Amino acid sequence: MAKPRNDGLPLPADEIQALVAADHKHVWHPFTQMQEWCEQPCMIVAAGDGAYVIDVQGNRYLDAISSLWVNVHGHRRREIDEAVRDQLDRIAHSTLLGTASVPTIQLAEKIIHLAPEGLTRVFYSDNGSTAVEVALKIAFQYWQQHEDAKKREKKRLVSFHNAYHGDTLGAVSVGGIDLFHGKYGPLLFPVSKVHYPDCYRCHLGLTSPECGIACLEELEKLMEKEADTLAALVIEPLVQGAAGMIMAPAGHLKAVETLCRKHDVLLIADEVAVGWGRTGTLFGVDQEDVRPDLLAMAKGLTGGYLPLAATLTTERIYEAFLGPYEEEKTFFHGHSYTGNPLAAAAALASVEIFEKENTIEALQPKIEHLTAGLERLWDLEHVGDIRQRGFMVGVELVEDAKSKRSYPSSERIGMKVAMEARRHGVLLRPLGDVMIFMPPFVITLAEIDKLLDVTYTCIEEITQGT
Ligand SMILES: Cc1ncc(COP(=O)(O)O)c(C=O)c1O
Repeated sequence: MAKPRNDGLPLPADEIQALVAADHKHVWHPFTQMQEWCEQPCMIVAAGDGAYVIDVQGNRYLDAISSLWVNVHGHRRREIDEAVRDQLDRIAHSTLLGTASVPTIQLAEKIIHLAPEGLTRVFYSDNGSTAVEVALKIAFQYWQQHEDAKKREKKRLVSFHNAYHGDTLGAVSVGGIDLFHGKYGPLLFPVSKVHYPDCYRCHLGLTSPECGIACLEELEKLMEKEADTLAALVIEPLVQGAAGMIMAPAGHLKAVETLCRKHDVLLIADEVAVGWGRTGTLFGVDQEDVRPDLLAMAKGLTGGYLPLAATLTTERIYEAFLGPYEEEKTFFHGHSYTGNPLAAAAALASVEIFEKENTIEALQPKIEHLTAGLERLWDLEHVGDIRQRGFMVGVELVEDAKSKRSYPSSERIGMKVAMEARRHGVLLRPLGDVMIFMPPFVITLAEIDKLLDVTYTCIEEITQGT
């Protein structure tokens, strides 16, 4: 790990004050109630070091959310730093419209080598939302170019309630989180929505595994009735992340794939959150030997360094876009920074670390340690559920564990616990009242213990007497 450049920290108090004032005056933070933001202490990150971020005061915080689920091998990872610097000495950006670039070619080869079988083509973009948009548009256009006129009726998409696929309007259309998406209803295209298995709050009132994944029946019926008009289904494999770490039982993903195959509906795996090792395997679909027609990846692709995304697909789909120019089968989609070479160089270095260090294998004892350590949190009166898949964890806080009654959202319990954790040197960002742990893979066993100890103390402190 390279030494962090935190010389010059802490910054002088008047400089910090000026930065805070300028932030409050000009910066509109994402997913943030700005009125609340301006009343809170403003943490300004200045440096990073392994599993830690360092603020302008020089305080170190364990980055338990991997800087919004992106960081993999830690901050200031020497090999990735060097790869970016080396690429910077060559060229920072060139376009993929009309020209190719060295690192994007090399990266595509590597990704395809590691990706689920059958995926052979890489379409680059620059964030998770666009990777999903690309997948949706490819799926739609694929059927529109089908030689069988009946298949050209396949125009509709299927997704899941509480899904999160990003913030662009196509991604919001297939999303299902009312708080984030509800307001934009009039701007969205219609999508068929079915339930994702939520075994803590089952909408059928059943218990897993005895239920035999009964919630799949809804999808089965939809497909039987409407297959002729269904183009594709988009799913977050294994875990609905932004919904609050909702975890599907084993077999769900495979059953969804089987239904898609039976009814000739394309399967889009949104691996933006679960991809690159998060669930304990390189890709979520690997756990159930599922082979999607399209796979979207972003976040961890560059090791959490730079914005880059990729949408992978099969020869069958790719070939449907080939033909003389005047047939208009071209995929007319691309962004200015699609496949940015600096980001591709970072991704290449990150993937090489995965290969060289057997990152996935090395992660397994840490996952086990985390699983064992989480057990203690059950002792807390207001912990309603603990959900874990690999290095993705959600600890749901409830007002009443017996009835699973949530706290009123105005209580901001999750946010209060996170702010308290920050005072103890741990950076958390909850989803509502679900405390999220998504640490970088470099976290040590001792740091996992610290994360759990601080979380325990802060939940206990904040929920006492509630
Ligand atoms: C499953 C999933 N898809 C897509 C996205 C959107 O990615 P981005 O924020 O890079 O646009 C996210 C972001 O959290 C995600 O979790």
